[in-house]
Amino acid sequence: MTLQKSVISLVNVNKIFTRSMSLSNVEEKGTDLKPWQEIPGPSSLPIIGQLHHFLPGGSLSNRNDFMTDFLYKKYGPIVRFDGRFGSPSIIILYDAEASSQILRGENLTAVRPGFFALKYYRTELNKQEGNPPDAPTGLITDHGDIWKKFRLSVNPILMQPQTIRLYRNSLTEVAEDMVKRMRRLRNDDNMIEGKFDIEMNLWALESIGVVALGGRLNCLDSNLPENSPAKKLINLVHEAFRLTDKLEFGISMWRYFATPTFKKAMKCYDDQRKINKYFIAKAREELEKKQKSPNDEKGVLEKLLDINEDVALIMANDMLFAGVDTTADTVTSILYYLATHPEKQSKLRKELTSKDEKQSYLKACIKESLRLKPVVIGNMRLTSKEYNILGYYIPKQMYVLFGHQAMSKMEHYYPRPTEFIPERWIVDKSDPLCHSNANPFAYSPFGFGVRTCIGQRIANLEIETFIETVIKNFEVEWFGPPPKIRVSTMNYTTGPFNFIFKDI
Ligand code: HEM
Repeated sequence: MTLQKSVISLVNVNKIFTRSMSLSNVEEKGTDLKPWQEIPGPSSLPIIGQLHHFLPGGSLSNRNDFMTDFLYKKYGPIVRFDGRFGSPSIIILYDAEASSQILRGENLTAVRPGFFALKYYRTELNKQEGNPPDAPTGLITDHGDIWKKFRLSVNPILMQPQTIRLYRNSLTEVAEDMVKRMRRLRNDDNMIEGKFDIEMNLWALESIGVVALGGRLNCLDSNLPENSPAKKLINLVHEAFRLTDKLEFGISMWRYFATPTFKKAMKCYDDQRKINKYFIAKAREELEKKQKSPNDEKGVLEKLLDINEDVALIMANDMLFAGVDTTADTVTSILYYLATHPEKQSKLRKELTSKDEKQSYLKACIKESLRLKPVVIGNMRLTSKEYNILGYYIPKQMYVLFGHQAMSKMEHYYPRPTEFIPERWIVDKSDPLCHSNANPFAYSPFGFGVRTCIGQRIANLEIETFIETVIKNFEVEWFGPPPKIRVSTMNYTTGPFNFIFKDI
């Protein structure tokens, strides 16, 4: 794809941002609601907006919790965050009932803003390939009718428990290979040498590769040649997320002209798409060679290929984009909570080594970890109509972020909110700890409604098989303070990773 796109095209991308700044006049509406500009939030200066808060010495500099609980504690359940350098203004909600009003109100036509550079790349590619203007670009980047049509065609494949269950054995194999690799990487103190977050990324890519690309990539093989397609894919997946994160979360000058990071991202998306295409073609050849009886249940890739090769490629691109860092960070957090709660870990091991197939405690540990540290700090919607939220008038075309991570740790939703208590997901409703006593909109690690995470069944199966295999093989311990977290478009656990993995 030609990367030197004109400024005009980029300005078109930017229109969606500037639209959010054009407001309906509140007085004309004849209501006594306060305008959104009066929502409390960090003070704004002319031109630079709230930027000074992020500069050294500013109230938000070096604050990793500013999107989670800091703003809530300082300003209350509704906070205004002004746009800066091309980014839009955002209203942040820390109230489950108010969040439900917008999430329900937007459900049928839900627009989740974000990933604009990726959207730009995919749209330009469609144009170059001569595809019609309503050709899909993917679930992450499409909205409206194009998104709806595509989602309806892939929902029955990716959300069907029967299809996903087919992967239990292959995902357990991946988990067992990862455990072997962890044994090899351990030093004399039973700690993993090297970067644990990168290791978990390799496990996550190998796992989602089985589903999206129809086979093993061999990411866990220490002798994988540097110039092999799998090795290239590992590097590209990592780079694509790093660059996207920089473009989405940093200062957004790329929305006006093609910055070096923007150009690198365009090349990275393009290279990754080509490698995905190569793996899908390879999988297709192998599927064609396989002797299958008509009663054999088809896997995800095969069913997507039955629709057509474009759908399989678009979905593979999305799965590799959204399904690596998310699961990798989630298993790291679960292992951390289990390591720091040895009694819960023993209880879990007892369940996993018993004949109990329901594995309710394992599922409860996963949910509890996602409550305390969801990988996505909050979901986002672009309003398509006007709302009265907590006494403020919220116009159309406004970005609203629902602060799920903060809400799921509030005392009035979850008693003993900061404690790791998996039991709250199992106990009876009469128990004050029971999760179902909380407003369901306070906890939403996989999002909401029609736009909910399409990979959640796959993610849960990957996580369950991995945690089960690790806990059956190792006594997991932790020493020292908790690991640091970098909050960006997602939560990233950055270490230090003081895990100790002792053989059982
Ligand atoms: C623990 C792991 C994961 C978490 C916590 C997670 C979370 C999320 C969240 C919060 C959303 C936004 C939902 C909304 O706006 O309402 C989302 C969307 C999405 N996720 Fe996941 N995700 C995970 C794993 C995966 C995996 C493994 C895949 C790959 C199959 C995946 C693919 C997607 C896609 C394609 C979307 C966009 C769906 C759409 O807009 O139609 N995710 N995810």
